[in-house]
Amino acid sequence: MLAKPILLVGAGALGSAILKGMRVAGHVAPQDVIILDLTPGEEAQKYAGLGARLNPGPEVWSEAWTVILAVKPQSWRGAAQILSGNLNTGATLVSVMAGVRTDDLSAVFAPLSVARVMPTTGVATGKGVASLFSGDGKALQAASDLFAPMASTVVLDHEGLIDAATAVSGSGPAYVYAFASALESAGLATGLTPADAKTLARATLISAVNLLDATGEEPEDLIRKVASPGGTTEAALKVLRKEGKGLDELIKAAVLAAQKRSQELG
Ligand SMILES: NC(=O)c1ccc[n+]([C@@H]2O[C@H](COP(=O)([O-])OP(=O)(O)OC[C@H]3O[C@@H](n4cnc5c(N)ncnc54)[C@H](OP(=O)(O)O)[C@@H]3O)[C@@H](O)[C@H]2O)c1
Repeated sequence: MLAKPILLVGAGALGSAILKGMRVAGHVAPQDVIILDLTPGEEAQKYAGLGARLNPGPEVWSEAWTVILAVKPQSWRGAAQILSGNLNTGATLVSVMAGVRTDDLSAVFAPLSVARVMPTTGVATGKGVASLFSGDGKALQAASDLFAPMASTVVLDHEGLIDAATAVSGSGPAYVYAFASALESAGLATGLTPADAKTLARATLISAVNLLDATGEEPEDLIRKVASPGGTTEAALKVLRKEGKGLDELIKAAVLAAQKRSQELG
């Protein structure tokens, strides 16, 4: 069971998405949330209106049993200094920061147990993606209890795989948007009006993804159901999956580039 109250440190883009996700999933009541952010955005203000405590004094911070650290990686040591001595020593720290290792967090926040999570901002809709890592069973459970109601979660075997997860799911939404944009441009090349190309490209993507989700079928099986031998889809797939220089190779190269960059930034 998720230990509450929850202290959210940093309510920017991702912190706000987590707040929204908790509201949508309903597993954390606003009254169980304490928010620290000197420039709170719309969602944090909304939470405060619903009963969350926004920027209370340090005497309140130690009430929290789960602490989410969602500041920029370059700000975390400053935030740790402010929090120092004011956290519950039995609390769990869940860091959603890219590139900050559990060893470094543990060295500063001991004796708190530490977990790392790499979420997408899609958690805001209750349907995000989150990769979890911790060498501590209690911390891993806390991270899972927090994110599983608002994301599909995977538990990573070792911390280095966070770079891999970042390359696939963290940056992944941008790959999908790039595809949507390319399909729309291609629609223009076929002679469709800009408005129709836009509608058809987006609706096709959304309905295809919905089907993938609803049926649980493998992508290759779904492809076979669309592509009849000698038909139009097959003609397109011959171009898209050209051996040695098709979409598969391109996506693989893109994901490996993202993984390498994530390793460099860490
Ligand atoms: N955005 C994403 O899609 C995403 C995905 C995965 C992981 N992450 C990770 O999530 C973290 C946050 O990213 P973000 O995009 O949400 O950044 P962001 O929008 O800049 O949010 C960070 C927030 O933390 C606040 N803050 C800074 N120092 C603080 C302190 N000492 N106490 C309380 N609040 C403080 C900032 O306030 P000010 O603006 O006033 O400084 C800001 O509102 C990063 O470490 C990033 O690696 C983000």
